[in-house]
Amino acid sequence: MESEPDLHALLRSLRVWDTELPAFDPAATPAEPVPLFVEWFAAAVAAGQTEPHTPSLATTDAEGRADVRTVMLHGADPDHGWQFASHSGSAKGRQLAARPYAALGFYWPVLGRQVRVRGTVRTAPAEVAHADLHARSTGALAAALVGHQSEHLSSYEELDRASQSAWELAQRAPETAVPTWTAYELAPNEVEFFQGDARRRHVRLKYSRTEDGWAKELLWP
Ligand SMILES: Cc1cc2nc3c(=O)[nH]c(=O)nc-3n(C[C@H](O)[C@H](O)[C@H](O)COP(=O)(O)O)c2cc1C
Repeated sequence: MESEPDLHALLRSLRVWDTELPAFDPAATPAEPVPLFVEWFAAAVAAGQTEPHTPSLATTDAEGRADVRTVMLHGADPDHGWQFASHSGSAKGRQLAARPYAALGFYWPVLGRQVRVRGTVRTAPAEVAHADLHARSTGALAAALVGHQSEHLSSYEELDRASQSAWELAQRAPETAVPTWTAYELAPNEVEFFQGDARRRHVRLKYSRTEDGWAKELLWP
């Protein structure tokens, strides 16, 4: 039998910010966070970052206890904020209905960059979720059609059967609506850009929403 891995030895052997990292000059940044996010996102893609569009989404439940999971980013712009989609009846959907605040965390290790977005979450019109889902792959539609997200599953065979009929329906009737599939828009109050540095002189630039725009400040790392 193989011996159990030594977690502490593994942890001690790992490094962060051990590569050539880009410089970040906060003085040369735009007045608003979205253009800088798009610039950093494009740089992460160009640098070969795997799945740069899969941030962690943090929410809180009705008792104020934190929860977190990965979602796919569907867009980011000044009018609609940071966009993602999920089922309204899932744990996150119920949490967002009770407490419409969330945070997104992106980490792009190839560039040593982190972006944090915090704000208020609203639900986009149902047509937006429908159009977004139906512009995606048959697999995405089939996955959404399966539904029941975050409910108890009694057996894997049950999922197999549901998935099989969802695929058949998605192929036969690709315009089928998924009423629980919901597009969410996170309107940010704060967006922080973190550039890691090998000598630990990390640069942190935080945008905070003001009455008429955005304020920028540096933070100690
Ligand atoms: C890479 C990746 C992308 C994911 N994207 C989504 C997504 O866009 N929407 C979604 O509802 N779940 C997505 N999931 C699944 C969620 O992480 C989570 O398991 C599911 O939404 C249930 O979360 P909840 O119980 O907190 O509601 C993704 C998971 C991974 C690993």
